[in-house]
Amino acid sequence: MNKIGMFLLVVFLYSSVANADRDSVSQKIGLGHSLTVGDGSVDPVGFHDATPSFSWKLPLGVEKQTAYRIEVTGESLKWDSGWVESDQSVFIPYEGGKLRSRQQLQWRVRFKNEDGLDSGWSKFAKFELGLLSNSDWTAKWIRPAAKAPAKVEKVACLRHQFVVDGSVKQARLYATARGLFEVNLNGKKVGQDHFANGQTSYSNRLDSLTYDVTRDLVEGNNSFDVLLGYGWYAGRFGWQGQRQVFGKFPELLLQLEIVYQDGRKESIVSDEDWTATIDGPILSSSIYDGEHVDATKEWSDWKPVVARSDLGAARIVPKPFATVKETELLSVQEITEPEEGRIVFDLGQNMVGWPRLSIPVEEGKTVKLRFSEMLNSDGTVHTKNYRAAKSTDSYTASKTGTINWEPKFTFHGFRYVELSGLPANAKPAKDWVKGVVLHTEMEKIGTFESSHAKLNQLQSNISWGQRGNFLDIPTDCPQRDERAGWTGDSQAFAPTSMFNFDCHGFWKSWLDSMRDDQLEDGNIPHVIPDIVGRGGSPGWVDAATIVPWEVYLRTGDIEVLSDNYSMMGRLVGWYRNQTVDGLLPNIEGYGDWLQPNSENKRGDTPSPLLGLAFYGNSCRILADSAHLLGRTEDATKYAEEADSINHSFAEHYFDSDGKLQNAPETQTGYLLAIAFDLIPNSMKPKATEHLVRLIGEADGHLRTGFLGTPYIVSVLDQMGHSDLAMTILLKETYPSWFYSINQGATTMWERWNSYSKQDGFSGDRMNSLNHYAYGAVGQWMYERLAGLSPDPDHPGYKHFFVRPLVTNELDWARAELETNYGKAVSAWKRENGRVVMEVVVPPNATATVEFPSERKSESVEAGTYRYFLKM
Ligand code: BGC
Repeated sequence: MNKIGMFLLVVFLYSSVANADRDSVSQKIGLGHSLTVGDGSVDPVGFHDATPSFSWKLPLGVEKQTAYRIEVTGESLKWDSGWVESDQSVFIPYEGGKLRSRQQLQWRVRFKNEDGLDSGWSKFAKFELGLLSNSDWTAKWIRPAAKAPAKVEKVACLRHQFVVDGSVKQARLYATARGLFEVNLNGKKVGQDHFANGQTSYSNRLDSLTYDVTRDLVEGNNSFDVLLGYGWYAGRFGWQGQRQVFGKFPELLLQLEIVYQDGRKESIVSDEDWTATIDGPILSSSIYDGEHVDATKEWSDWKPVVARSDLGAARIVPKPFATVKETELLSVQEITEPEEGRIVFDLGQNMVGWPRLSIPVEEGKTVKLRFSEMLNSDGTVHTKNYRAAKSTDSYTASKTGTINWEPKFTFHGFRYVELSGLPANAKPAKDWVKGVVLHTEMEKIGTFESSHAKLNQLQSNISWGQRGNFLDIPTDCPQRDERAGWTGDSQAFAPTSMFNFDCHGFWKSWLDSMRDDQLEDGNIPHVIPDIVGRGGSPGWVDAATIVPWEVYLRTGDIEVLSDNYSMMGRLVGWYRNQTVDGLLPNIEGYGDWLQPNSENKRGDTPSPLLGLAFYGNSCRILADSAHLLGRTEDATKYAEEADSINHSFAEHYFDSDGKLQNAPETQTGYLLAIAFDLIPNSMKPKATEHLVRLIGEADGHLRTGFLGTPYIVSVLDQMGHSDLAMTILLKETYPSWFYSINQGATTMWERWNSYSKQDGFSGDRMNSLNHYAYGAVGQWMYERLAGLSPDPDHPGYKHFFVRPLVTNELDWARAELETNYGKAVSAWKRENGRVVMEVVVPPNATATVEFPSERKSESVEAGTYRYFLKM
């Protein structure tokens, strides 16, 4: 149904203002709370930024802040901002004296509300800086002297015994690796992190982790046993069979700093006094190929380590965001035995992480583990789509009995675990296997729910797609010999990702690696961290502009624009340098990747058109960023450049009837022209008619790949065709979102037809069943089906729009989002012949409520509102 149709049906029953059931502002004003530093860190130890910013939330009942005052205190340091008249309560920059490594600070805030009432001081929050510069390290890089055979990713153990000579007041452990590490102190794992130190552009930046180990030390003898794996750094990594792409062997850098009660200070560091071995139970552990353990072996053959005092060129900085953690434990739903002796455990959900086993074993026998995302028709595990990733684990038992085991330095993308080599008489039980879900620790900040079961399943699949692929960096897929930071997938999914989880720091860190890896000529490599040294695909390179912009829009953190401004400018320069007479030639690239019904994986929208479209969009983002950063001359210059790109685009690719010319007519061609404002507004309705005709010719189906899909429903909706947007969104047949759900998907798939019950798997080479790119539609579900959308003029939900699409196909929809100001809600439901809208605006924010199909809107301040609309 189009907007006009809706307008006729909807009658406004009451005046919305009269019926607004608003929470009244209480006279008793509470304290500022939820104090965070930087991108949302709570009381961090080992914080990365010596120029931090501060954010807080205001208590419910407060409408807005009119002034704030921050006080930061630390050893010989005090900064008092004094009262600052401002309604800003997020990302207030620190302006006190210089902060240094290791410094411990506390801070608090007070604010005045709309009536000028003073809240009084909040409770104190804390932060402690990590080791900010390479000169803070006295430790040396160490590695085992023994060399593992080629292509074997042996896990090493590095050992050191030391004496703690007195009562400890404070102890901090700083550690990083070229590779992956796990520190055990006195036999106990330090922290709960996995895959430390994560994946960065290693030759430029290494992240260190900081642990408070004050309570883990004992007076007298202590010992470190540090496990060191190859990981992404030195292991097999890359779809072209690469190994050692970042470095030849793993190394550890560790520094323990002890302060005794009596004031003495001591450092225990990695150096030539350590010993190490590669002869132990973990025979190999590889990101792609799995982990193999022989428990009959003990760590032996200890030798002095090789130590190097040259720290190298990469900056060693405290990890700027959360590590990978265990976030959930899945239970087995079903057990089958499709082949004798091969038991398959179904966890009911495609997930990423590893299995936790508690199984009977026989001395000297090896239990083998295989994994799969789906089963073959005969019930056996389908492993072909892992391609060259072996993705198998094994465990050889040292004695008969029950073992509890899980891997350390590998991960798998799977729903099914196959075990073989078990004792013949053992009866498999569901509690033998658990699924340990691993990903970057991110707060779940958003929920989307509706009356439509399949839409809810789609939302679940999108969210699991994100969890599976946000493992330290945003990856394309988590299971085959790839798992890399593909830029195109990331830019498509970035907006949706920030509705589901707080991934502010996650994206900023990845952008930092992108800046490190930008090529000389401004081009952006295909994957970040870069492992191929090549880039240049329209829609992929543009992650350099789109991701910063989306992070800014959804968090309000302008630093992400200033940090990346130069990278954006260089990318736009790269595009510019290739133009000929205002047009782009054929740029090698991935096209509208995996567009359905095309002969070509790159789809039917030609590269020169895609290139010009994305160049125009990136240039516009650059111009807007320049404007926001107060770079007036740049803003004018880039706005002119963007206008001229639009002009060339419209002239060359569109005839006066709004029809595509000089290129095949594709849905994506029309979508980008409208979404990126490349054609004049006056031409958009005509272009939309052609788009609608194309969709009609496809029997109401989408024909979009990675680049067009993020825009298909939003552009149709924007152009007054929300009915058609709903038809496409709810389509059951191929190609559509529900098609994969009808075939049993529990995550997003790489292809619209990765699998069908009738025809089985579509191609084995490139068929990931956990690929988030098409999950980009989640954005529209939040922003329009539920109706909660950000305002570029007041980013970070300082002001937002509530504009739900009350559509016939749903009885209700609801979005909740924990913004930096507090919880925002937009929900609607049909009730007794009416539509009831619920809106929650957090303190210190405002919203504009646009009533469905009414040409009316209302501005509201903090509070809870209900509106009753007659349908
Ligand atoms: C990846 C993608 C990526 C693409 C480039 C694939 O192999 O899995 O998601 O964007 O290559 O076209």
